Amino acid sequence: MTEKYMKLWATPIAIFNHPDAEAINAELMSTEQVQKLRGMNYMSKKNAWDLVDEIPAMKELHRWKLECAAKYASKCFNVEYTSDHFFHTQGSINFRGKDEEAPLHTHRLTTIVTTYYVDVHDDCGDIRLIDPRSTLGWISMEKKAYNQFTYTPQNGSMIMFPGWVTHAVLHNKTDKERVALTGNIRLKPEYEVF
Ligand SMILES: [Fe+2]
Repeated sequence: MTEKYMKLWATPIAIFNHPDAEAINAELMSTEQVQKLRGMNYMSKKNAWDLVDEIPAMKELHRWKLECAAKYASKCFNVEYTSDHFFHTQGSINFRGKDEEAPLHTHRLTTIVTTYYVDVHDDCGDIRLIDPRSTLGWISMEKKAYNQFTYTPQNGSMIMFPGWVTHAVLHNKTDKERVALTGNIRLKPEYEVF
């Protein structure tokens, strides 16, 4: 064989929509314990998943995110995991007001990053993922940046991507808060292969 072609190191990204999002989001936004989390960020010691036993909507999202992680693994990596192969680490409910943003960052030591949108509006801050292979721009035939993917959040949707992907939340151009439940999911140590 004189020629060989390989397509390596893709960056699988998935978008899911919860079928009962309207009720879930209404419950979260009207629950005092959730509102008290305003101001928490990735440096907080608080873990939003501590509310799982108190708030049915949190319990459902906790379950659903693991179910989606298993689908993501199956569709994108061809590995047949179930929800039981994964576990949640830190979860945060982020409230971002006018002009707030999240600078470029990664979620270190995380298998999968998930962000579920609880209360979002037009122009409240897209999420932008950056492909670390920054020189890939040369293979783009389009004028848009090849190594970026920008997603406009929708209420009840969830974006899922690998933990090593650098990303940012663009600034909120509205007067309304942008509310999202971000969580880190990992494969249980007994299933990890290195
Ligand atoms: Fe993040």
